[in-house]
Amino acid sequence: MLGSGQGSNFVAIAEGISFGQVPAEVALVLSDVETAGILAQARSRGLPASYLPPGKFRTKLDEEAEQSLVAQLQAARVDLVVLAGFMRVLKGDFLRAFEGRIVNIHPSLLPCFPGLQAWKQALDYGVKVTGCTVHFVDAGIDSGAIIGQQTVPVLDGDTPETLHQRIHQAEHELYPRCVAALARGEITVQGRLVKWHPAA
Ligand code: GRF
Repeated sequence: MLGSGQGSNFVAIAEGISFGQVPAEVALVLSDVETAGILAQARSRGLPASYLPPGKFRTKLDEEAEQSLVAQLQAARVDLVVLAGFMRVLKGDFLRAFEGRIVNIHPSLLPCFPGLQAWKQALDYGVKVTGCTVHFVDAGIDSGAIIGQQTVPVLDGDTPETLHQRIHQAEHELYPRCVAALARGEITVQGRLVKWHPAA
C-alpha cells in the first residue's frame, strides 16, 4: 500500500483483513512523506513500513525513487498495489511493472471531478450527489477502469470539510470491499468494463 497522508483508508483495509473480511495480507507500506500517518499506522500494527525519498520533483517520483519503489514491491512479491492517498503521479516503468495490478481510490464519482480536492469541485459545481470511486490506475489522471463506486449526498449546509468527511466514511466501506473482491478473484476486466462475479 502506498500513501502520503493520514492513512485512514489503509486502516479500513487493515481492519478488514484482521476481521477476516478481506482475504489479503499487507506486504509493505511505503510513503513519500516521512511523517505520514499511514507509516505510523502500519508500524503500530507491526507491518513493514518505509519512507521512500521521492527525489527532486514535487508531483512525481524521480527515476531513482521509481526504480527503488519497483524493486521494493517486487522483493515483497506483491500481487496488488493499493494507492491510498498517494499524492504523486505514477508512470512509465512503474505502470509497466504492475500493469493491471494497481488500484486507487478517488473522492468523487468519476469521471466527474478528477484531480485535486474533488469534494470541493463537487460542492462548487453544485451537484446534489457525489461519492467515491475505486479504479485501476492507467497512465491518465484518475482515468482507469472503474471497479466500484459509492454515492454520498451533498447536503445544503455542507462545507468542504463536512462533505469530505462523509466521502471519507464511504471510502472506508468501499475500498475494503473492492480489495476483498480482487483478492478473491471475483473481478474480471475487459477493456474499460470491470465485472463482479461474487461467489454464490
Ligand atoms: C482519500 O480521500 C482518497 O480518496 C484520496 O486521498 C485521501 C486519502 O485519505 N485519494 P487517507 O490518507 O486514506 O485518510
